[in-house]
Amino acid sequence: MTQDELKTLVGRAALDYVTPGSIVGVGTGSTVDKFIDALGEALRADPKRVAGAVSSSVRSTQRLEALGIPVLPAEQVEGLGVYIDGADEIDHRGYMIKGGGAALTREKIVAELAERFVCIADESKLVQVLGKFPLPVEVIPMAAAQVIRAFAKLGGAGRVREGVTTDNGNVIVDVSGLSIADPAAFEADVNQWPGVVTVGVFARNRAAVCLLGTPAGVRTMTF
Ligand code: 5RP
Repeated sequence: MTQDELKTLVGRAALDYVTPGSIVGVGTGSTVDKFIDALGEALRADPKRVAGAVSSSVRSTQRLEALGIPVLPAEQVEGLGVYIDGADEIDHRGYMIKGGGAALTREKIVAELAERFVCIADESKLVQVLGKFPLPVEVIPMAAAQVIRAFAKLGGAGRVREGVTTDNGNVIVDVSGLSIADPAAFEADVNQWPGVVTVGVFARNRAAVCLLGTPAGVRTMTF
């Protein structure tokens, strides 16, 4: 099976976690695009399959609205049953690195609203220790150089992602060379650095479930 087919598999499987008629939290990325496609198919069979969505990016909002799914502003929603999103890396405890699509800040905001984070990913995303994928960090532009220097002290090599401005008007610093043994402590620390808007370690908002696409089918991991 190709990586694309594995993404389609888990995108479809995620529908089982969406309560009929509910409002669903929707992440960002190529795997989430497959989930949105599956949602579109389900809606054709049952127009009441979902009542609406809270989206984590302009990209996902456009795709949802193209299917006629009402997208509610996060500030008008008090809680969600489930948030469906991909990951750049996930470990065996449900901790993740996210932000490859630069949407990490809004992803954390919507994930925080949800009772359960359901991660959908192909099996290449499962790792023993987070950090091989360059860690995305959303940073206020004037702090980028000092944040890069701070990561250098931890052994990380940071660089500003070229040509990318986030939906919030900030830059992304991608940091290579880290090995993140204690994701919760790391997230809490880096989030305090002046100018850091969001670090792409999802520990507070880790996955409750991961639907991992494998050639043998969907492997369900619960944490
Ligand atoms: C976007 C993200 C994505 O979930 C992550 O990059 C995975 O993307 P894909 O499903 O395309 O592999 O965090 O900010």
